[in-house]
Amino acid sequence: RLLPNILRIHRSLHTEIAFAFDIDGVLLRSKEPISGASEALKLCHDNKIPFILLTNGGGTSENQRTAFLSDALRVPLSPSQIIQSHTPFKTLVPEYKKVLAVGSPTVREVAEMYGFEKVVHPMDIVRYDPSIAPFSGVSKDVRMELSREIPGLDKEPFEAILVFNDSRDWGADIQIILDLLNSENGMLNTVRQARPNAPPMSKPSVPIYFSNNDLVWANQYVLNRVGQGAFRTVIETLYSRLNYGAQLENTIIGKPTAVTYDFAHHILIKWREKLASGSKNEIPLPKLGVSPESSPFSKVFMVGDNPASDIIGAHNYGWSTCLVRSGVYRDGDPLPCHPTIIADNVFDAVKRAIG
Ligand code: G3P
Ligand code: MG
Repeated sequence: RLLPNILRIHRSLHTEIAFAFDIDGVLLRSKEPISGASEALKLCHDNKIPFILLTNGGGTSENQRTAFLSDALRVPLSPSQIIQSHTPFKTLVPEYKKVLAVGSPTVREVAEMYGFEKVVHPMDIVRYDPSIAPFSGVSKDVRMELSREIPGLDKEPFEAILVFNDSRDWGADIQIILDLLNSENGMLNTVRQARPNAPPMSKPSVPIYFSNNDLVWANQYVLNRVGQGAFRTVIETLYSRLNYGAQLENTIIGKPTAVTYDFAHHILIKWREKLASGSKNEIPLPKLGVSPESSPFSKVFMVGDNPASDIIGAHNYGWSTCLVRSGVYRDGDPLPCHPTIIADNVFDAVKRAIG
């Protein structure tokens, strides 16, 4: 029984297939491995089928995330194989010096590791003046432990707002983001003046980047939870109300955007070359918004649980799609496109994709 399976895998290798695996709802629910996740990755690893992990999650470094996953799923993984929602932010380092890094307290470290020179977390701003966010949900003790005193916080302008992952303190974060979007050239404690008779200002004073647009995602709770896409909706709505109906100009990356699929595709191509050559060199950072000139793959399968993110994004990008029932999606939910495969879990999906 083993032999025909192996032959099948070898036959599919000739057709140059590859996989992109989503994490939450496919490999893990919260921190718990989903059944079949370890087997699916091992099957690809043992048969040298190139694969990457493409998640809209984040908050830790690529090294830490792969170390955790490798341990939890008992399969060797390289940090080069993971693209988190904020991994493409690395390409913005030459553009911005002082940034507001929004999300879990751990995103400060991630932003600094990427190379941003001056990283401020919203908690540092509340520490500087608690009346900026009088109803922050973070206690003073926790804030004092996790925040920093930033010298000259109000002396130099913020150059960008980068939302790394889900806000942990919506009230305070929304207030601080709105303050900066409507500030005088990114200076804290200021507000820009609307010019008389000028059209509503869509362009904020500080550019804002969202690293994912998931309205919902799946953790261990029985119902889907609202995500960064919901947070963005609140920011956009309030910005519009504060700016006479103006639509906030912003940049959204992460699945389902083509920018992130291009980024992932570059990495997958380089990872395949690295696997073949056994080279120890790091994979160079792809340029944002540039499609690979050609692809060695006849088929790339995106395995995901979220039709509005993984599946439609991959479908629009021309990849094959495996929708699994282990996360956001429930049978009967409306689908934005026809997935190539619908499977109970990721192992089932991989076997059918290569079979
Ligand atoms: O915050 C996590 C999330 O929105 C989804 O992560 O792995 O399902 O793309 P993932
Ligand atoms: Mg998911």
